[in-house]
Amino acid sequence: MNYKKLIPRLDLERLPAHVGIIMDGNGRWAARKRRPRMYGHRAGARSVRQMVELGVELKLGYITFYAFSTENWGRPEEEVQGLLKLLKEFLAKEIAELNRQNIRVNIIGSESRLDPAYLAEIREMASPTFGNTGLTVNMAFNYGGRLEIVEGIQKLFAESRDKPELIEKLSPQAFSNYLYTAGQPDPDLIIRTSGESRISNFLLWQMAYAEIYITQTLWPDFDKAAFIEALIDFQSRERRYGGVESQ
Ligand code: IPE
Ligand code: IPE
Ligand code: MG
Repeated sequence: MNYKKLIPRLDLERLPAHVGIIMDGNGRWAARKRRPRMYGHRAGARSVRQMVELGVELKLGYITFYAFSTENWGRPEEEVQGLLKLLKEFLAKEIAELNRQNIRVNIIGSESRLDPAYLAEIREMASPTFGNTGLTVNMAFNYGGRLEIVEGIQKLFAESRDKPELIEKLSPQAFSNYLYTAGQPDPDLIIRTSGESRISNFLLWQMAYAEIYITQTLWPDFDKAAFIEALIDFQSRERRYGGVESQ
């Protein structure tokens, strides 16, 4: 299906401000082709590129890609090393074009466990885009929702040593500014590919009122048309935020 044919079915005034994507199914996609898991991850990187292109075309504000979770360290060493390398290769290959398109690339996640030299290198690679004002692409790498909240609490406590009112006057909204996504709108839509109905420690705090869309499609097969289908589905939802119908 040519994705362009689907665009007229979208209300461009009511697009989600922020879309979070749990990119799952790379391993199963590779297994179906009798190829190693890394083959699936590399194919998955091409899907990321497609989603970013569509994000720019539709003028979306924020997309967060879940690329490596704090639990993914438990995978075989070869796969872990492959995924670390793939992020670097992706940035090396794409950053100039992303920058040209005015995209801001943020790497969000914990610094724990990552080699400081590696961390410095990927930050440096993304840094030319930091002043950009178009689509923000968050690459959630070494990301865990629970760890993000814990690190947020640690930051807050450190700051509160000479400002106790930060704790006394803390609100959910104020706490959001201690998360990796500080200053960004919460995701309105979370997409998970490959059929699993779980959150797997993604954006736990931020997704309080997100709409969740699960598709059987494996991540490397998730294309622009599939993304638009998810957006159309999102637009059919009635969001009530705890209120009653069409308040
Ligand atoms: C998602 O694909 C990518 C990462 C978690 C890095 P998987 O590698 O989880 O693929 P499946 O779930 O084994 O098919
Ligand atoms: C979630 O996928 C993490 C990423 C997409 C990076 P997983 O494949 O790691 O999640 P589980 O193990 O199925 O919950
Ligand atoms: Mg998986």
